[in-house]
Amino acid sequence: MEKIIIFDTTLRDGEQAPGASLNQKEKLDIAFALERLGVDVIEAGFPISSPGDFAAVSLVAKEIKKSAVCALARAIPKDIDSAFQATKKARQARIHVFLATSKIHMRYKLKKAEDEILRLAVKAVKYARNLCGDIEFSPEDASRTEREFLFRVVEAVITAGARTVNIPDTVGYSEPFEYGNVIKSLKENVPNISRAVISVHCHNDLGLAVANSLAAVQNGARQVECTINGIGERAGNASMEEIVMGLVVRRDRFKAKTSINAREIYKTSRLVSKLTGFVIAPNKAIVGLNAFRHESGIHQDGVLKKRATYEIIRAEDVGFKVESLVLGKHSGRHAFKERLLKLGYKPNDHEIDEVFKKFKALADKKKQVFDDDIMALIQEEIEGKVPEVWRLNTFVISSGNRIQPSARIRLVFRGKIFENTASGDGPVDACYKAIEGITRVKCQLLDYSLQSVTRGEDAQGEASVRLRCNGKEISGRASSTDIIEASIRAYLQAINKIVFAK
Ligand code: KIV
Ligand code: ZN
Repeated sequence: MEKIIIFDTTLRDGEQAPGASLNQKEKLDIAFALERLGVDVIEAGFPISSPGDFAAVSLVAKEIKKSAVCALARAIPKDIDSAFQATKKARQARIHVFLATSKIHMRYKLKKAEDEILRLAVKAVKYARNLCGDIEFSPEDASRTEREFLFRVVEAVITAGARTVNIPDTVGYSEPFEYGNVIKSLKENVPNISRAVISVHCHNDLGLAVANSLAAVQNGARQVECTINGIGERAGNASMEEIVMGLVVRRDRFKAKTSINAREIYKTSRLVSKLTGFVIAPNKAIVGLNAFRHESGIHQDGVLKKRATYEIIRAEDVGFKVESLVLGKHSGRHAFKERLLKLGYKPNDHEIDEVFKKFKALADKKKQVFDDDIMALIQEEIEGKVPEVWRLNTFVISSGNRIQPSARIRLVFRGKIFENTASGDGPVDACYKAIEGITRVKCQLLDYSLQSVTRGEDAQGEASVRLRCNGKEISGRASSTDIIEASIRAYLQAINKIVFAK
């Protein structure tokens, strides 16, 4: 079995997906989940791109102990210095330098000729290698690069000290046969290729990112770059869960293994979905809600007789709990704590007490409390570290198809109650206007989404909002069995982040 290095770029390329921006705490939570999942390398960000990204990469580098932590840099000293500074506390640091090599990028974007690009690539890798022992180089848009030139660049950067050469299909243009051949030709034509790991990085513009990555593995690639749920620029990147399970299920074809603990996949996928606000399509392979459901009678009959007739993966193999009933209102704190630990959280005593109270309140309202409900509660508690400067006291809404929706909201601020009534296009809009009138925090609502946490009539709704305030984007999230309450509390969480930051 060949070992395939899993390089996760959820926090870098994944976060480049429009609307996915994550704060530092959210990035760290995802990094911990990736570490538990067993990824070999976490690409934590692009430190030169903003002070926030620099800080987030530094934090991840300091906290993560098992996976290597990587930072991206253009082939210029100030980027490389910044990547070095941000990752220097990591147990294993990597700097990832990239420079475009395709004709179209060199001519129109960089306005440089081949020899100049080659010189800059070598210079950057040597510069980075003086700072860090583990250097990866990406000839951006490699799949559309002239093959002979690609060979020259790859050979030169390996000589200059790159340990990994990544071959990006930057615009998702390749098809599997062609892309597999690029990898094969590198092995055949680059004399020093055995001194580096060949990595692949595929985008999904034609829906082929996973197929291309697997074709590359069959042709000798030993590192795959991917993201959880396939999030990323435009149509996204190759999805980690699909690649990993492809390698597991078709071990007979790929003869390769990874260090991923597949049972952590579902939980990690849910966390990334929650924190980015990107809902997972029900039919999404491996992690979609329908991925393990059989509707047709013939299929159900087959599965009952012999599971393997229609199932190639067991739901539990990827940690997909089919809404297991875990606890009820008579469950004690000890059992609750055990459940949290099993779900992968490490709350302190205060957090357990707080979440336990909320769990009891939820168990009173809801007949059945599932793992996903508990995950929503603990997630809120962990994120809710922002003090509740403004707290919801009561709300009353009036809405209908023939009346103008209105909301009366009461909030508590420093022990005092403030009340306001407003009307809006709908009940949620009316609530948000009433809140704005009380708090006087003016924001633009960029995104609002509502998702059911579990199934059933009494399921909790989880509301997510993204606001823009003074040029900054802030998110808020909350869940409740009442969707208006969830919407109000999500909005207040975002407002409290703003007020607290001030
Ligand atoms: O898609 C791409 O080419 C990239 C590089 C920076 C590796 O993300
Ligand atoms: Zn990319």
